[in-house]
Amino acid sequence: MTTRTVPTGLDADWAQQVRELARERNAVILAHNYQLPEIQDIADYVGDSLGLSRIAAETDADEVIFCGVHFMAETAKILSPDRRVFIPDANAGCSLADTIDADQLRAWKAEHPDAVVVSYVNTTAEVKALTDVCCTSSNAVDVVNSIDPDQEILFLPDQFLGAHVRRRTGRENIHVWAGECHVHADISPTNLVDTVTANPGAELYVHPECGCTTSALWMAESGELPQENTHILSTGGMLEAARKSTSEKVLVATEIGMLHQLRKANPATEFMPVNPKAACPYMQMITAEKLLACLRNQTDEIFVDEKIAAAARGAVERMVAIGNPGGGE
Ligand code: 13P
Ligand code: SF4
Repeated sequence: MTTRTVPTGLDADWAQQVRELARERNAVILAHNYQLPEIQDIADYVGDSLGLSRIAAETDADEVIFCGVHFMAETAKILSPDRRVFIPDANAGCSLADTIDADQLRAWKAEHPDAVVVSYVNTTAEVKALTDVCCTSSNAVDVVNSIDPDQEILFLPDQFLGAHVRRRTGRENIHVWAGECHVHADISPTNLVDTVTANPGAELYVHPECGCTTSALWMAESGELPQENTHILSTGGMLEAARKSTSEKVLVATEIGMLHQLRKANPATEFMPVNPKAACPYMQMITAEKLLACLRNQTDEIFVDEKIAAAARGAVERMVAIGNPGGGE
């Protein structure tokens, strides 16, 4: 947090006001890697879904201000029911979380009564309450590997992440829900082929939610892309790889907010988006003005029904306990 992006049109002392209010309220500000640059720069911690969940679970702060989307703040509240959790705009949803609701999951479970349910963290609290273990993109493979190989699994809701997990674990007994994130699904095989062709020799980071994940692996396997240069990574994994990279150029297939952290982590490498239009409208709802208003007016607070939170907690705690750090720590 040495350099800060000053948001245009805001008071020059915006950053000072935010930091003072956070100190007065003993609040920790968490920001996902897809947040706007000024939000990332003012936050106490920036990270991926898993890393931020772990910080939210362990913090001594009285309040958590979650600059991300609704399911992330809800997950923090499930982990810390006695702590006040806020999101600067409660309308910041997620198109992927919207692809399955509790009734749909109940019906799917009824078709596979013996299956273990693995839900991506991008789900509502009600769906988590019907889940055995949650995962994020950084530990999905570890979570599935922790389950008896003969056990049937329902994996939801992301079809591209599900296909990646199926490939990496070699398991046939995983049923995958046909959901997708509209931002990552729009990072298409055509975008990938065009960008890779125009930038020979560049390294490639691909988030497993992307519509082009299968093509990236296929191209790597068929020799169209050098295998050692193609990495399927969570946002935290991308950051870790960027810190170590000596490449001149890295092509990045994920939401474009990620580029800010990557460029800060390694100024010597050029990071280029595979689809420069891949911006998440929900992540961008968390603006500098709303963050300040959240700290001043205590809006919007997250509440999760205690019965639902209690039913969801075990699945979220298992997620937090499994796999690599996930960034932000
Ligand atoms: P991760 O930070 O876990 O990679 O998640 C990406 C994402 O799409 C969050 O909405
Ligand atoms: Fe949801 Fe996609 Fe936005 Fe992530 S990028 S919050 S998965 S809509």
